[in-house]
Amino acid sequence: MAPKIFLTRTLPETVMALMKERFEVVQAPRDRPLSAREIIDGAQGCDGIVAMLSDPVTADILKNCPTVRIVANYAAGTNNVDLEAARAGNVAVSNTPCVLTEATADLAFALLLAVARRIVEGHQLVHSGRWDGWGPTLMLGQEIQAKRLGIIGMGKIGCAMARRAQGFGMDIVYHNRNRVAEGVERALDCHLVSLDELLRSSDYISIHCPLTPETRNLLDAKAFTRIKHGAYLINTARGEVVDEAAMIAALDDGTLTGAGLDVFTGEPDVNPRLLELENVVVAPHVGSATYDTRTHMGEVAINNLSAFFEGRDMPNRVV
Ligand code: DGY
Repeated sequence: MAPKIFLTRTLPETVMALMKERFEVVQAPRDRPLSAREIIDGAQGCDGIVAMLSDPVTADILKNCPTVRIVANYAAGTNNVDLEAARAGNVAVSNTPCVLTEATADLAFALLLAVARRIVEGHQLVHSGRWDGWGPTLMLGQEIQAKRLGIIGMGKIGCAMARRAQGFGMDIVYHNRNRVAEGVERALDCHLVSLDELLRSSDYISIHCPLTPETRNLLDAKAFTRIKHGAYLINTARGEVVDEAAMIAALDDGTLTGAGLDVFTGEPDVNPRLLELENVVVAPHVGSATYDTRTHMGEVAINNLSAFFEGRDMPNRVV
């Protein structure tokens, strides 16, 4: 008998077809974020859950779904899953790393360009009918060439961001728990600096680290006092890596010239102040939202489930 999987959201068509070929799929009746109660009810009697980053897979959910032996997270990040509880309950957890690297770096670089060159403001001006023609001081933005990009979190996505920045002639530094291989540093023409130096010297700061207890509020009020005056902040990682109130204060007092944000604390709720600021470009957590990437993420989740149920090593085991 095929393993029974509770799927919390509708995935791209080809993924749905493949998943239904391999497993008995129980799908949430409505395609929207689910409450803990709905996940518990939906997963009763299931062997596994395919969860999204918006599904908090808590200790309580795991306890109340005793037949579930694997959570295949449809995301690279696993901060939505209580990993300790999974470990304690002997529930395996997998993620979908690697396949979303390029799409996420594309979005991060798009946000960088958008804030530096005020693309959304310009779009709105043209749409408003208030544009009265070319002007020598109209909508001046900031150069990118030769400016310093500080990358926080030099994993796959951080490196992909560096590759893009190289093409734009940027000076690249990074901060990471560990130094990346010398060959990678050489190829990307970048070097490791302390967080302090990165904040003090970068014209653009882009966050690419996972959300962990160590990185929660990594950019807190104190960090914003050390940021180079007039820098830009790009976040396509997790909102909670940044103290949002401190970031808003920095945008208000000019410490930050602008921000490009794909992720927020408490999303989908967004602090209303962020929506009032013209120098903030926001996106609805769509870093990995391309047809190709979302399809590949589904395939990776399926491969992990298949490996688990066939007793093979899961390619992307987190727990
Ligand atoms: C992830 O997979 O962690 C991304 O945030 C999804 O876009």
